[in-house]
Amino acid sequence: MHDACAPKTEKDTRPIAEAPEKRVFIKTFGCQMNVYDSERMADTLGAAGFAETGSPENADLVILNTCHIREKAAEKVFSELGRMRVLRETRREQGGDMMIAVAGCVAQAEGEEIARRAAVDIIVGPQSYHRLPELIERRAGNRGPVIETEFPAAEKFASLPAPKLRAAPAAFLTVQEGCDKFCTFCVVPYTRGAEYSRPVAQIIEEAKRLAERGVREITLIGQNVNAWAGQGPSGKTWTLADLLRALSEVDGIARLRFTTSHPNDMSDALIAAHRDLPKLMPYLHLPFQSGSDRILKAMNRKHRMEDYLRLVDRLRDARPDLALSTDIIVGFPGETEADFEDTMRIVERVHFAQAYSFKYSARPGTPAADRPGHVPEDTKSQRLASLQALLFAQQTAFNSAMVGRTLAVLWESRGRNDGQVVGRSPYLQPVYAEGDTALIGRITDVEIMAASQNSLRAVIKNLDEDAT
Ligand code: SAH
Ligand code: SF4
Ligand code: F3S
Repeated sequence: MHDACAPKTEKDTRPIAEAPEKRVFIKTFGCQMNVYDSERMADTLGAAGFAETGSPENADLVILNTCHIREKAAEKVFSELGRMRVLRETRREQGGDMMIAVAGCVAQAEGEEIARRAAVDIIVGPQSYHRLPELIERRAGNRGPVIETEFPAAEKFASLPAPKLRAAPAAFLTVQEGCDKFCTFCVVPYTRGAEYSRPVAQIIEEAKRLAERGVREITLIGQNVNAWAGQGPSGKTWTLADLLRALSEVDGIARLRFTTSHPNDMSDALIAAHRDLPKLMPYLHLPFQSGSDRILKAMNRKHRMEDYLRLVDRLRDARPDLALSTDIIVGFPGETEADFEDTMRIVERVHFAQAYSFKYSARPGTPAADRPGHVPEDTKSQRLASLQALLFAQQTAFNSAMVGRTLAVLWESRGRNDGQVVGRSPYLQPVYAEGDTALIGRITDVEIMAASQNSLRAVIKNLDEDAT
């Protein structure tokens, strides 16, 4: 997020000619979907005369874009709201003012409760934020808070302005939203609504605009991105594999990724895309949640462990260097030590390059929250610790295996130290090297010199030639 008053750098290339009068500070919690949404909110508000600022202290509008997935995530919102209200008080004492808006999944799930408890100005759900300028006006002439949590996703996407130029050469592009799967632990079907796929033409248009603005890598995002379906130009039904093929022909786009996938929607065509499309990076996030069929059934995941393992084998046959990442929950209601051991066995068998693991968190309104057999907190913590020790060891081993290898890196930003740049390998590992910031946006070959659990250190090779 940029401060309108900060000196312009090569990262901050937005026009300043309009001299915006108002400033908005956006704080993002949660998944990539919210990152994408926050950028679109900034674009929408930019068109209405707001510039982004990096600090809430000088903002006229503060937006918290919130996440409801686990209890801790939702709690953070209330503590952050407390902090913002103090800031607003100070501003009022100084004769100024500030609006506070809550957006995202907590706004959708707990809008009324927030309005009652938190004295905020605007509450706007994930499908309604294109109406922010109108909501701000409505709030100005209103005594109480303005709540907007309706409207289908289609209206939002059709109303959003084209994405503005942003710093990074890697961008997210939402192609699918919502979820019809109703895993028994999960709030997403309630906060994001039914599955919706954006139309092909809209997606290709957005990808072209991103490419024109220097983006080299696009990650297609959606809660169930591989359930995306659309209609191709000739009227034929397209799956995500067709969409990826079309996007790999967009000039300037060198790399494609997609996330998050559900194992049940990994079609043959999508597996084949990993074999056939050189621009599709060899990295796949494929959550399995639990290694126990009994728990998977209670979770309503609709896949068995054997299905997942077979899928992994087929993906690796199609693309032998494919790296896998996953999501795992420990301590789902009814999970026994034996169920947990099944989870550990799967991790040992698959070898993940990366993984996100969580203690089960009971979410209000989800079926699992009311089930018997809740696992004690300390058992959950013990299981999580054993699991993470194994996952971290695998991640470190995966990274260490890169030492001495040549990898193509897309340079994304300057590093923490002077003269250092940071990029991403095909396997999404952060790579650090000595190099000029002119490299940002280029893909070059590097030799990997050292590895740690979270990143790689490299030396740049063949500077005159860009890798593909
Ligand atoms: N659509 C994605 C997941 C979105 S939520 C999918 O189906 O894979 C991201 C992750 O948060 C989930 O994969 C799950 O591992 C975790 N998660 C969701 N609800 C949770 C809960 N109630 N407690 C703990 N972890 C949860
Ligand atoms: Fe949640 Fe399951 Fe849908 Fe993923 S597939 S968003 S975990 S309900
Ligand atoms: Fe959180 Fe909503 Fe994403 S609940 S994980 S921000 S879809």
